[in-house]
Amino acid sequence: MTPGVGLVSVLLLIIPATTYATTPTFSVDYHRNCFLKDGEPFRYISGSIHYSRIPRVYWKDRLLKMYMAGLNAIQTYVPWNFHEAVPGQYDFSGDRDLEQFLQLCQDIGLLVIMRPGPYICAEWDMGGLPAWLLKKKDIVLRSSDPDYLAAVDKWMGKLLPIIKRYLYQNGGPIITVQVENEYGSYFACDFNYMRHLSQLFRFYLGEEAVLFTTDGAGLGYLKCGSLQGLYATVDFGPGANVTAAFEAQRHVEPRGPLVNSEFYPGWLDHWGEKHSVVPTSAVVKTLNEILEIGANVNLYMFIGGTNFGYWNGANTPYGPQPTSYDYDSPLTEAGDLTEKYFAIREVIKMYKDVPEGILPPSTPKFAYGKVQMKKLKTVSETLDVLSFSGPVKTLYPPTFIEMNQAFGFVLYQTVLPVNCVKPTPLSSPLNGVHDRAYISIDGTAAGILERNKALSINITGKAGSRVDVLVENMGRINYGKGINDFKGLVFNLTLGADVLVNWTVYSLSVDEAVSKGLLLASGSSSTSSTSTPPPALSPPTFYTGSFIIPDGIPDLPQDTYIQFPDWRKGQVWINGFNVGRYWPSRGPQITLFVPAHLLSTSVQNNITVLELEASPCSSGSCMVEFTDTPILNGTVNGQYKRQLFNKQDLF
Ligand SMILES: *[C@@H]1O[C@H](CO)[C@@H](O)[C@H](O)[C@H]1NC(C)=O
Ligand SMILES: *[C@@H]1O[C@H](CO)[C@@H](O)[C@H](O)[C@H]1NC(C)=O
Ligand SMILES: *[C@@H]1O[C@H](CO)[C@@H](O)[C@H](O)[C@H]1NC(C)=O
Ligand SMILES: *[C@@H]1O[C@H](CO)[C@@H](O)[C@H](O)[C@H]1NC(C)=O
Ligand SMILES: *[C@@H]1O[C@H](CO)[C@@H](O)[C@H](O)[C@H]1NC(C)=O
Ligand SMILES: *[C@@H]1O[C@H](CO)[C@@H](O)[C@H](O)[C@H]1NC(C)=O
Repeated sequence: MTPGVGLVSVLLLIIPATTYATTPTFSVDYHRNCFLKDGEPFRYISGSIHYSRIPRVYWKDRLLKMYMAGLNAIQTYVPWNFHEAVPGQYDFSGDRDLEQFLQLCQDIGLLVIMRPGPYICAEWDMGGLPAWLLKKKDIVLRSSDPDYLAAVDKWMGKLLPIIKRYLYQNGGPIITVQVENEYGSYFACDFNYMRHLSQLFRFYLGEEAVLFTTDGAGLGYLKCGSLQGLYATVDFGPGANVTAAFEAQRHVEPRGPLVNSEFYPGWLDHWGEKHSVVPTSAVVKTLNEILEIGANVNLYMFIGGTNFGYWNGANTPYGPQPTSYDYDSPLTEAGDLTEKYFAIREVIKMYKDVPEGILPPSTPKFAYGKVQMKKLKTVSETLDVLSFSGPVKTLYPPTFIEMNQAFGFVLYQTVLPVNCVKPTPLSSPLNGVHDRAYISIDGTAAGILERNKALSINITGKAGSRVDVLVENMGRINYGKGINDFKGLVFNLTLGADVLVNWTVYSLSVDEAVSKGLLLASGSSSTSSTSTPPPALSPPTFYTGSFIIPDGIPDLPQDTYIQFPDWRKGQVWINGFNVGRYWPSRGPQITLFVPAHLLSTSVQNNITVLELEASPCSSGSCMVEFTDTPILNGTVNGQYKRQLFNKQDLF
């Protein structure tokens, strides 16, 4: 061997060694009370964005706006039920492409605080848990129930290896990973469950991964939510006593970084309750207090986005959240810059550099105007195309899950066993309509039963008359002990004193029928709608309409909002995409966000509406309208009032 060759070998050895020395690291520094990133003290100022609530085409725009606000990290949840709708079938494509989302974060220069669940709360159906877990009727969710754990282990065995590839120390953007979610607010307080999760996360993510928990800033929450080996953080909103809140964290973590994992620049909504508004002045005041003491913070939500389709959750007493998850955030549902955004940016500027350069503008909105709608058939007249498998006959009514259906609508049919000449109560004595039932007798609307709100209606009819009960799942409870939220007729209906029996039950594939255009093929209703006053109530009915995007206007299609003047409640699809629920008669949300990518400039755009109560169509006006301005704070038809930032109040 010559000296020359030896030198080359040495150099070759040095190169990988140098690479090794710069391997990224992220950890907790218990001496200096901060995080350490690549050996340097580090503080994050982060914002929440849920990829599941934003169309993939807009991920980059929203992330850029977050980056330009001065954030150095984002926080996101992984909703299990979004990715595993059917046990063992995983979907990470399109709007579910988690890896693409993480890659974008990294490309833009944002670190990621990952919250993979398995439970996420998030005002998301069942807090992200798949409804099929309820096939075991008495399953204890979020506990060491063996069936629950087996499903969690399988899912995490799929998800955590993906997350591992994107950990900071492996060259990715993920700096910390949350285990469970505010577990201290849950009744079970099962330490074996938390220990199991902790071991599971460690197994897949390794010893170096920074794992953490988040709980309300009170010792009562931290008691069951925190666990040795998982860094405990807290959450609280504007107006909180910041000193006292972090004292709670210090009680569990005497040293290490102070972290508010959910600081609320806005708050959630419920149908029938006033739109939540959080004043910018209160947000910036408390944010400044948090940053001033060097604490880490995540603004939940920085952009809320949309509960498209059926994805909204609900709180207790049963109150489902609307389609919009705008959250009065610094970026609106549609990604628009607000006065709150700029005010927050100014606060951040006092503590760190905010990127220079051009801020991506709010996307333009276009008012496509009114669209004439045409009545199609009722749900009961369309069963041939809505129910592929045909009906199931049962003595007592099954739940959605017993029908193998998670979301949407199920039709329960029976006949009146006796003549009801006088008004006779048709009731759900045990409050078993989950969540709303539209009832007709021989095709004529007879009334609505609603969970917690309307447990009985009076009906009339002859023995043998057909009783149609269309039950709507309005979203599963996502917080507290009510998350085992079965849907459908979960208890018997009674007629007078007798239990109604002998049901014919149709599982309905409305979304599939809409996207395949089957409803149009089945034609319009035979009963023509002449100009008569609108009935108080009609059986649930489909409507369709189409519009063409005008030529000659540059930059179309643009985002828009759809509203339903004089319509009551229902579901809307645009070109087969389930945009969400509308309910202007209850409020506060009036307009639904329609992102531009759903629209076509080359062919006509198709709107399908399932109106559940009554349309304005029989009175002559039969229009829906596209506007350029969102209305999320319409008048409400409801009494219940909840407090801002108070999670006890959602229980
Ligand atoms: C905030 O909490 C701290 C610590 O518990 C307490 O000393 C202080 O008086 C509180 N401030 C206010 C304004 O209540
Ligand atoms: C049903 O009719 C009875 C007797 O007329 C009446 O007392 C009751 O209030 C009615 N119930 C409803 C829900 O309208
Ligand atoms: C319905 O009523 C029948 C007869 O009273 C009872 O056996 C059955 O358990 C009830 N089902 C439900 C879901 O309440
Ligand atoms: C329900 O169906 C069974 C079997 O077909 C029949 O014997 C019974 O009379 C029916 N009950 C009612 C109330 O219609
Ligand atoms: C709307 O429906 C028409 C007729 O069925 C179809 O030709 C057209 O492609 C549809 N538009 C879109 C954007 O899917
Ligand atoms: C709704 O919000 C808009 C815009 O912030 C405001 O101008 C309007 O007064 C609000 N309406 C109600 C009913 O609160």
